[in-house]
Amino acid sequence: MNNKHIILIGFMGTGKSSVGKILSKSLELPYIDTDYKIELRKQQSIPKIFEKGEAYFRSIEEETLNDIIINHSPSIISTGGGIILSEKNRALMKNHLVILLQASIEEIYKRVKQNQERPLLHVKDVRGKIADTLDQRKALYAHLANITINTDNKEIKQVAEEIVSNLPQKV
Ligand code: S3P
Repeated sequence: MNNKHIILIGFMGTGKSSVGKILSKSLELPYIDTDYKIELRKQQSIPKIFEKGEAYFRSIEEETLNDIIINHSPSIISTGGGIILSEKNRALMKNHLVILLQASIEEIYKRVKQNQERPLLHVKDVRGKIADTLDQRKALYAHLANITINTDNKEIKQVAEEIVSNLPQKV
C-alpha cells in the first residue's frame, strides 16, 4: 500500500456510505464521509447549509475534500454525489483510487424517495430530476473512475466484495 486513498464516487443513492463502511472494516482503513465532515465543520445539516445556496455548499465541499485528502492517512472516503462537479475536486481525486458506484434511475429512485435529507431532490418530479442530473454528470463520473461497479439488485456486502476483488495489488 502506498499513500493513496480509496474514494467512492457516484450518484445519490448508489450506496457509497454503506459500502464505504464495509470496505473500511474489511481493508482495515479509516472511514471518512465528506457530507458528515461538512456537517461537523459547519455544525449544520446538509439541508440547512443548502439554504444558503448550492454554491455555498459546493465551496465548503471543496475545502472539506481538500482537507481530508491532504491531512489524512490512506482512508476509505465516501463522497457526496456532486463532488465531481468541481474541477479542483476532480484534479485532487485523480491521484487516488476512484471507485464509481452506478445504479439505474429506477433503483436510485427507490432508494432515495423516502429520504428528505437531499435538497436537490426536493422537487415534484423526483424521477425526472434524477434522470436529468445523472445525464449531466455521467461523463464526469465515468472519466474519473478507475473501477466501476453496478449495484443494481446487489446487497451492499456483495458490492463491497466485488470492489475488493477488483482492487489492484498495490492501491
Ligand atoms: C448531493 C449529494 C448528497 C449531498 C448533497 C448534494 C449531490 O450526498 O452531498 O445533498 O449533489 O448529488 P449523497 O450522494 O451521499 O446523497
